[in-house]
Amino acid sequence: MKAIVHYKYGSPDVLELRDIDKPVPADDEVLVRVHASSVNPVEWYGMTGLLLARPSAGWLKPKDPRLGTDYAGVVEEVGENVKDFQPGDEVYGGRHGAYADYVCVRDAVAPKPKSITFEQAAAIPIAGLTALQGLRDHGKIQPGQKVLINGASGGVGTFAVQVAKALGAEVTAVCSSQNVEKARSLGADHVVDYPKEDFTRSEHRYDLLFDIAGSRSWREYKRVLAPNATFVLVGGPKTPLIGPVGHIIRIKLVSLRASQKVVFFIANFNRADFAVMNELIAAGKVTPVIDRQYKLKDLPEAMRYFGEGHARGKIAITMNA
Ligand SMILES: NC(=O)c1ccc[n+]([C@@H]2O[C@H](COP(=O)([O-])OP(=O)(O)OC[C@H]3O[C@@H](n4cnc5c(N)ncnc54)[C@H](OP(=O)(O)O)[C@@H]3O)[C@@H](O)[C@H]2O)c1
Repeated sequence: MKAIVHYKYGSPDVLELRDIDKPVPADDEVLVRVHASSVNPVEWYGMTGLLLARPSAGWLKPKDPRLGTDYAGVVEEVGENVKDFQPGDEVYGGRHGAYADYVCVRDAVAPKPKSITFEQAAAIPIAGLTALQGLRDHGKIQPGQKVLINGASGGVGTFAVQVAKALGAEVTAVCSSQNVEKARSLGADHVVDYPKEDFTRSEHRYDLLFDIAGSRSWREYKRVLAPNATFVLVGGPKTPLIGPVGHIIRIKLVSLRASQKVVFFIANFNRADFAVMNELIAAGKVTPVIDRQYKLKDLPEAMRYFGEGHARGKIAITMNA
């Protein structure tokens, strides 16, 4: 089968489209023919070789050359113990090595909502579940709360605006000028155009700040936090070798004595949350936003665009085109 592989860390130039062995499902796995995938920071860091991940991923070169996580496709075969899926089912989920014709998956698999395309379904796993878990479980979002989403126009941000609205919050989206209308159309009550306006100088106080962009210092963020607010650290700048880790550690350390609660989390795949996303999609409350679509062979180009840091929603990868 065709798959994207990389045998060294570096720029998108290290990515190659090669023939590798098709995986064989274990008794409790399903084999999925992948139709679409998408790009996330985890692939960017897998490709460039995030320092913190190297003890497990390989110090000098990747131990596992495959890349990709989000997938959507059709079940082709099921292991003998699998009872809840059958060949022909349209599914989506997350599995390392998803930039490939096939993946074998055990738990991170869910029925694909009928109303959306494979590309839209493949946009959901990492970004959608990060928005859901970050706002609901770590931010403890409540109806009527004032929520600010910093970095509202990218992969996680476009889901976060919609999920926060679906959970009843009054949402302020921070994004650049070209994305202001998009943020409004996703349901944001207020939009801050960050190149023109500094939200940390506003009179407003927020109950929950969902920090995807990691663009400001704690001292600046704190000015607009209510005394008992929750600050959810989602990510930060793509600094070479350490990625968003420097921003996350810095904020955690300098906020130790603050009255606000500061939380960092890493999203996980679970079927219950895929089901919640499916309900939000069926209810028309969440629609995945696709910025651009690339073929698998053009993944280096997709990665270069992603690396610029201004994707407007998700970047989809199609396998069969
Ligand atoms: N904790 C977790 O489990 C988890 C999971 C997934 C992702 N993440 C992290 O979340 C972050 C974002 O991921 P993503 O997939 O959403 O990336 P993305 O699609 O590249 O989106 C990043 C967005 O940040 C915006 N941005 C850049 N500079 C900004 C600024 N100064 N102020 C406000 N917004 C700014 C950009 O919008 P404009 O074009 O409008 O500037 C861009 O759309 C990454 O750091 C990633 O590592 C964490």
